[in-house]
Amino acid sequence: MLKLARRFFGRFRLNLIIGPLCKLIEVVFDVLTPIVVALMIDEGVSRHSLPTVLFYGGVLGVFALVGIAFALVCQKMASRASQGIGTEIRATLYQHINELSYTELDHFGTPSLITRITNDVNQVQLAVALAIRQLIRWPLLAVGSMIAALAIDWHLGLIFLISTPIIAGVFWFVMARCVPFFKELQARLDHIALLTREGLSGVRVIRAFARGAHERERFRRAADDQAAVAIAVGKLSSLLNPVTFLVMNLAVCAILWQGGGLVDTGELSQGEVMAFVNYMTQTLLSIVYVANLVVVFTKASASASRINEVLDCAPTIVDAPDAAVPVLVGPAAAPVLAGPAAVPSLRMANAAFTYPGAMRPAVAGADFSLMPGQTLGIIGGTGSGKSTLVNLIPRLYDATEGTVELFGRDVRTWPLAELRRAVGIVPQKASLVSGTIRSNLTWRDTGASDDELWRALEIAQAADFVRANPKGLDAPVEAAGKNFSGGQRQRLTIARALVGDPAVLILDDSASALDFKTDAALRHAIHVRSREGAVAGGVPLTTVIVSQRISSVREADLICVMRRGQVVGLGTHDELMRACTVYQEIFYSQFKREEAEGATPSAPLASSDTKEVAENA
Ligand SMILES: Nc1ncnc2c1ncn2[C@@H]1O[C@H](COP(=O)(O)OP(=O)(O)OP(=O)(O)O)[C@@H](O)[C@H]1O
Ligand SMILES: [Mg+2]
Repeated sequence: MLKLARRFFGRFRLNLIIGPLCKLIEVVFDVLTPIVVALMIDEGVSRHSLPTVLFYGGVLGVFALVGIAFALVCQKMASRASQGIGTEIRATLYQHINELSYTELDHFGTPSLITRITNDVNQVQLAVALAIRQLIRWPLLAVGSMIAALAIDWHLGLIFLISTPIIAGVFWFVMARCVPFFKELQARLDHIALLTREGLSGVRVIRAFARGAHERERFRRAADDQAAVAIAVGKLSSLLNPVTFLVMNLAVCAILWQGGGLVDTGELSQGEVMAFVNYMTQTLLSIVYVANLVVVFTKASASASRINEVLDCAPTIVDAPDAAVPVLVGPAAAPVLAGPAAVPSLRMANAAFTYPGAMRPAVAGADFSLMPGQTLGIIGGTGSGKSTLVNLIPRLYDATEGTVELFGRDVRTWPLAELRRAVGIVPQKASLVSGTIRSNLTWRDTGASDDELWRALEIAQAADFVRANPKGLDAPVEAAGKNFSGGQRQRLTIARALVGDPAVLILDDSASALDFKTDAALRHAIHVRSREGAVAGGVPLTTVIVSQRISSVREADLICVMRRGQVVGLGTHDELMRACTVYQEIFYSQFKREEAEGATPSAPLASSDTKEVAENA
C-alpha cells in the first residue's frame, strides 16, 4: 500500500491533508459535546432553569452546525482524492498492461488483469476515502473520550481501562484469523471472472455443443467456492458486534452502578455520570469502527500488492539501447533490395521458442531466408507451432534461441515502433474494436488517406462490401466487430495490416473463413501489390502466409512444413512433393491422387489459374 501511495498520492497531497484536518476539528467538537450535555443537566435540568437549558441547547446546535460544515469539506476532499487516485491508478495500469509483452500477459491472464483493474482498484479507492474520513476520527475520538472521562473521575475511569483491552483483544483474535482469507477471496474472484469471460465470449459455441448445463455447473462450483470462503470470514467477523455490545453494555452497567453510589455521596454530579456513559459508548464504538477500518485496509493492502505486481512487471520486449532501423527506401536502399549484396528481408537462424513452463519448444530449428518480394508459406497441422513462429517476427515473443533478422538486422535491435510499422501482421483471431471501419483501418497509420484505405480494402477483397454500405468507410463497427461476418472481419483485418505500407505482411491463417475463390483473388492482389512496391522504388512486399491449405501456399517461393514444433520440410512445392513425407501426407489429405499426378486440382488453384479467378471474382 505504501508503495502505491508513493506512486499515486503526490498529486492529491492537498486533499489528503485538508480532509483529515477538517475531521480533526469535527472530532474536537464531538469530544466537547458530552461536557456541554453534562453542564446542561447539572446547571439547567437539575435546577429547573429553562434559560440555561436553552443556552446550552443553542451551544450544542452551533457545535452541530460547525461539525457538519467541516464534515462536508472533509467529505469533498475524500471524494476528490479517492476518485482521482482510483482513476489515475486505473489509467496507469491500463497503459502499463498495453506495454507488456505477450509473455507477461500470458503470465497474469486476461481475467486476472480485469479484476485487478476494476475490483482491486476499487478496494484501494475505498480505503483512501475511509482513511481520510475515518482513520483520524475514530482513534482520536477514542483517545479524546478516554482522557475526558479520566479527567472527570479516574476511579470510574478504571472501568475503561478494563473494558477497552477486552474488546481490543476480541478484535485481535478475530482479525488474525480473517486476514489470511482476504487474498484467497480475491483469487477466487479471479477464477469466477475467468469462467464468466469464457462463458460469455464462447456462449454461441457452448450452446451449439449443448454444454450449457456443464458450464453452469462449473460456474456454480466456482461461485460456491468463493461463497464458502466469504461465509467462513463472515461467521468469524459476525462474532465481533455481539461481543463488543455485550462488553459495552456491561461497562455501562458498571458505570451506572458505581456512579450512582458516587452521586449519592455527592462526589459526582448526575451530568458527569451521563457524560461518562457517553464517553464510554463513544470509545467502544470507535474501536468497532477502527476494526472495520482494519478490514478495509487489509483488503486494500492485498489489492495494492496485486496492483503493484502488475506495475512492477517490466515488459521483457523493449527497445535495445543501440536500436536502429535499416534503410529501406531511397538510393541507399538499393543494395538492400537487389544485386549481389542484397540482404534477405526475413531470415531465421536456428530460431527456437519455448513458452515459459512448457516441457518442449513450440518452435525449433527454424532456419531459412527470404528475399524482398518473395513469399513464404508455412503449413502444418493445428498446434504445430505456425502462429508461434510468425509471432517471433514482430517480436510478439522473443526467440529463446537463435535469431530472427529483418533486412539484415536482428529484430531485437530494431526500434520496436519501427519494427511494428515495417511488419503488418494479421493475427489468427480477427479482432476489430467498436468504432468505424475507418477507425479500425487506421491503427498502423492514423494519417492514412481515403485513397490508401480503399487501396488496402481492394487488395484485401473487402472493398465490395464496404462500398455496398451507404456509410462506406464511416460505417459503424460494433464491439468485437460482431456486426460483420467472420470472413468480412478477416478481410478488414487484412486491410488494416496493409495500411501504412508494411515491408513484410504476415497472414496467420487469415483466409480460413474465405472461400477458395476469394482466397485466390486475395493472394493474387497481394502478389501484384508486392511488385508495385518494387516499381515504385519502395521495398517489394515480403509475404508470409500461414495456412492449413496446400492451395494457399503452393505458389510460395519457399514453403516451411511444421510438425509438433519442428520444421520438417523446407523448399518449393515441387521439392517438398518429392522429398517431404509430411507435406505429401497433407497434400494427399486434400487432393485426390490423380490430381497430384498431373491433372489440375478441382477446388484449389494452381498459380496460372489464380489471375483468371481473381478477375472473375
Ligand atoms: N500462450 C501460450 N502459452 C503456452 N503455450 C502455448 C501458447 N500458445 C500456444 N501454445 C502451445 O504452443 C504450441 C503451438 O501453438 P501455435 O498456436 O503456434 O500452433 P499453430 O500451428 O498456430 O496451430 P493452429 O493451426 O491451430 O493455429 C501448441 O502446442 C500450444 O499448446
Ligand atoms: Mg495458429
